[in-house]
Amino acid sequence: MKTLSATAQAHPNIAFIKYWGNRDSVLRLPSNGSISMNLDGLTTRTTVSFQPSLPFDELTINGHEVIGKGLDRVSSILDLVRRMAGIGMKAEVISESNFPSGAGIASSASAFAALALAATQAAGLGLSEAELSRLARRGSGSASRSVPGGFVEWHAGNTDEESFAESIASPDHWDLADCVAILSAGHKQTGSTEGHALAPTSPLQAARVADAPRRLDLCRQAILKRDFESLASIVELDSDMMHAVMMTSQPALFYWQPATLTVMQAVREWRSQGLPVFYTIDAGPNVHVLCPQAALGETEKNLRGLPGVTDVLVAGVGGPARLLS
Ligand code: PMV
Repeated sequence: MKTLSATAQAHPNIAFIKYWGNRDSVLRLPSNGSISMNLDGLTTRTTVSFQPSLPFDELTINGHEVIGKGLDRVSSILDLVRRMAGIGMKAEVISESNFPSGAGIASSASAFAALALAATQAAGLGLSEAELSRLARRGSGSASRSVPGGFVEWHAGNTDEESFAESIASPDHWDLADCVAILSAGHKQTGSTEGHALAPTSPLQAARVADAPRRLDLCRQAILKRDFESLASIVELDSDMMHAVMMTSQPALFYWQPATLTVMQAVREWRSQGLPVFYTIDAGPNVHVLCPQAALGETEKNLRGLPGVTDVLVAGVGGPARLLS
């Protein structure tokens, strides 16, 4: 038996319609569908080598060896790949991301998308995009959306087979940019895996999920028509609804810092003055501020001038996960 190896890269994504809560947490079948945009320039690159001599899977992330829960999560994806390919070899996984881990951009989406592609290629499996998206989903739900390119919709589905993401528009469909306003975070936040489990404890989650098909339709239409105003209003509503669920879970998850609200209010103020911008916030205090590329200079300058903003990271619309070499 010889070593089987492949390298793949993937981008993280920012959700316009959020995934929050699972109907099946083992399969990571979401309570509702979601829509996102891949983030160009921010990249995770992962090499997987199945080696006959390895007694265990080994994981290195950004130069540091990872054991425990992080390794178990990766091994569970490798187990699925080994089962599909009928191989028993353990693997060495080396992963590097070019964006800071404290930047409020979850690396799990790009990491599990790149892992799914590299591992299946190394094992000699030629999966379809939908099959890859399903596999990435098992590592992190949002990773399903980092497999296809551009603007992406993840269909919630009722079964493993039905729950995958596909592109609804290519990266060059609309030249939007994401300016991530980085705020100084106070303490360690509750991770999304624990957060999803708390979603049903909020009395607001059922209403959020019931209304999701309407928000998905409005968001999809706004993207297809490049209707910035409509996109701005549905994305801000969806983000506020997810945070209302988080804040009313038991125990409550309160991700905002005072500076988070400062940015949200500033974005609404700038929009009322004619600057095309809107915000969306994931499971952390940082604020993603979306705008057309033409408004990027002014948006970034404005954000840097706000109290509590320590840095601004900028990304365009990214392509699909792809193989390297
Ligand atoms: O894929 P996870 O388990 O990291 O969950 C992602 C959760 C949010 O980022 C808050 C929303 C989303 O749809 O990306």
